[in-house]
Amino acid sequence: MRKTIIAGNWKMYKTINEAIDLANGLKRELFKLDFAAVEVVLCPAFTALSEVAEVLNETDIQLGAQDVYYQDGGAFTGEVSPLMLKDAGCKFVIIGHSERRQFFGETNETVNKKIKASLKHGLTPIICVGENLQERESDNTFKVIQEHIKGSLVDISAEEMLKTVIAYEPVWAIGTGKTATPEQAQEVHKYIRDLLSKMYGKETADEIRIQYGGSVKPENIAELMGKPDVDGALVGGASLKADTFSQIVTKASEVIK
Ligand code: PGA
Repeated sequence: MRKTIIAGNWKMYKTINEAIDLANGLKRELFKLDFAAVEVVLCPAFTALSEVAEVLNETDIQLGAQDVYYQDGGAFTGEVSPLMLKDAGCKFVIIGHSERRQFFGETNETVNKKIKASLKHGLTPIICVGENLQERESDNTFKVIQEHIKGSLVDISAEEMLKTVIAYEPVWAIGTGKTATPEQAQEVHKYIRDLLSKMYGKETADEIRIQYGGSVKPENIAELMGKPDVDGALVGGASLKADTFSQIVTKASEVIK
């Protein structure tokens, strides 16, 4: 049984005080939630991690970062190491988000190094993959997904894979209000699971959680979660307000598979 996982990617939004307010709001909204049924992860900007960790202390809500560097420490101006993220209270880290691939030169090779460094320090990587509009329209979706998966997972063992989460995020659906249909999401999620099954065996592939991301909102979460290979969501815009994100989490927790 794969436990549903809903993560909020706050991107480059929220000052420290705003982040504290949002985390407190979510704590209030979600206190009745059955955390045995759903795992909730908040991913604020680096500057707000410690303060949000303090708000989440003694709750079942987990903390994650939006990126990491792959060295433990050193002369790497501007970067943040896995050790520093652990120290700030993180359990998760988003790796290879399409915005990092698009604007900051992230490649499958750097994603691979970051996954290994995170696993080494006990952080759970949320590994993002997804095609852009041109790739989808030219019928290259599966080819791109295969490149992202195979390139990002070089030399990662089956045992390590069990400690990861995959996020399928079609770039054309991110921040556009244009969600993939549940059928489109399921088609790619199944493709990813079949690929993981070939790489690591069916038993391992069946355990790995695959989130969908791209314009997830309270209105579409239940339908998406209704699909057999959709195990959760990575939410951007709708995670920035306590009421919409908690509605998403609550609706996801109610979907029984
Ligand atoms: P969105 O972003 O929900 O605003 O589309 C998702 C993401 O980028 O993770």
